[in-house]
Amino acid sequence: MNKSKGMFISLEGSEGVGKTTSLKFVQNYIESLGHKVLLTREPGGTPMAEELRNILLSEREEKVEADTELLLMFAARCQHVNQVIKPALEQGTSVICDRFVDASYAYQGGGRGLDFSRIQQLEEWCLDGFKPDLTLLLDMSVEEGIARTKKRGKADRFETEKMAFYEKIRAAYLLRAEQNPQRMAVIDAAPDISQVQTSLKSVLEQTYNQ
Ligand SMILES: Nc1ncnc2c1ncn2[C@@H]1O[C@H](COP(=O)(O)OP(=O)(O)OP(=O)(O)O)[C@@H](O)[C@H]1O
Ligand SMILES: [Mg+2]
Repeated sequence: MNKSKGMFISLEGSEGVGKTTSLKFVQNYIESLGHKVLLTREPGGTPMAEELRNILLSEREEKVEADTELLLMFAARCQHVNQVIKPALEQGTSVICDRFVDASYAYQGGGRGLDFSRIQQLEEWCLDGFKPDLTLLLDMSVEEGIARTKKRGKADRFETEKMAFYEKIRAAYLLRAEQNPQRMAVIDAAPDISQVQTSLKSVLEQTYNQ
């Protein structure tokens, strides 16, 4: 680890797995080591990228092409990386990002079915080898994840339809972790918050003691 530069950590995982909850724990851990921390998120993280986020997340009548979604994600990411993330890291601030490039592989690749090679081309073009130092992938079964967000026990019929989509997202995330074992740590997100934090702490300790 380069001590003069900040660490870039991304948190990944599908809806409701506990990314935002974990982000604060990771922030406290890094601050306790005496480092400055910047919290940010994708899509978004700059005023323009947040506008793109609103465009991406808003409900609309017209069908959104998977390629359009992918390009907008990378347009926002390009702005975010160059305007916010890289300058902070250069100043020695650590950056913790709620979702990053792996989310494009999981959602636009796994979920929407775009070829990973297409995403990789954009990654090379926009990021040119820039990646997180550490990615924490929070993983749990899709059914439990949906139940957690809905705060109830069983998925209804509509949620069952959505489950196939989330299964693809989960599988793509796990494939990314398998392909990037040095950078990505899979955290079991199913146990209670304190157990998840114990897992996070052990990965962070390994990373910071390297
Ligand atoms: N380990 C856990 N056990 C039980 N509940 C949890 C756990 N982690 C988070 N939660 C709760 O689950 C809900 C979703 O958590 P959180 O908002 O952190 O997920 P997220 O991954 O950021 O979701 P989103 O993708 O929607 O942003 C919250 O109500 C949170 O308090
Ligand atoms: Mg969140």
